[in-house]
Amino acid sequence: MRILALSLLVPVTIFAAAAEQPAPAGGPVGAAPVPVQSTAKVSLVPAAGSSVKGELTLANQGTAVSVRGEITGLAPGKEHGFHVHEVGQCSPPDFQSAGEHFNPTKDPHGGPDSQARHLGDIPNIKADESGRASVDVSIKGATLVDKDGAPTQILGKALVVHAMRDDYKTQPSGDSGARIACGVIR
Ligand code: CU
Ligand code: ZN
Repeated sequence: MRILALSLLVPVTIFAAAAEQPAPAGGPVGAAPVPVQSTAKVSLVPAAGSSVKGELTLANQGTAVSVRGEITGLAPGKEHGFHVHEVGQCSPPDFQSAGEHFNPTKDPHGGPDSQARHLGDIPNIKADESGRASVDVSIKGATLVDKDGAPTQILGKALVVHAMRDDYKTQPSGDSGARIACGVIR
């Protein structure tokens, strides 16, 4: 009886295994669209000597990317420079690892409304009297990730908060001082 049961089971098992074979690597040629990620998160971590932290959500919005969330530990009542930097690496103590402002068009530094600007130039954030800032800004001209691999995509790059306000004109970074918080867009 036991032998009979086993001999019935074996062909079934082999059939099931064959049915679960994965598709060939890469999928059918010309099909399989690349998935487009339409939202991303950033956790801002403080630089040495800073207590600035934040949680942000980014979303594709046509020809812009929205950035929303909250940042705490800022200088009360002060404006702070805020940019996309070109390298998605936030290494302490000072986040120099994040490189310069993201600038795929090789334009000069500017403000969010300047004709010519770095793509990573976004509006200053403003802290309330408790050092908290509610963020709701747009990164004009940016895409989160693009199926055609456009040079405007910011997924994998870094968001950086500075000690001082960005004047939107001093080269190359708006005279906004030290990097006090940093987070990778992922
Ligand atoms: Cu910056
Ligand atoms: Zn810039």
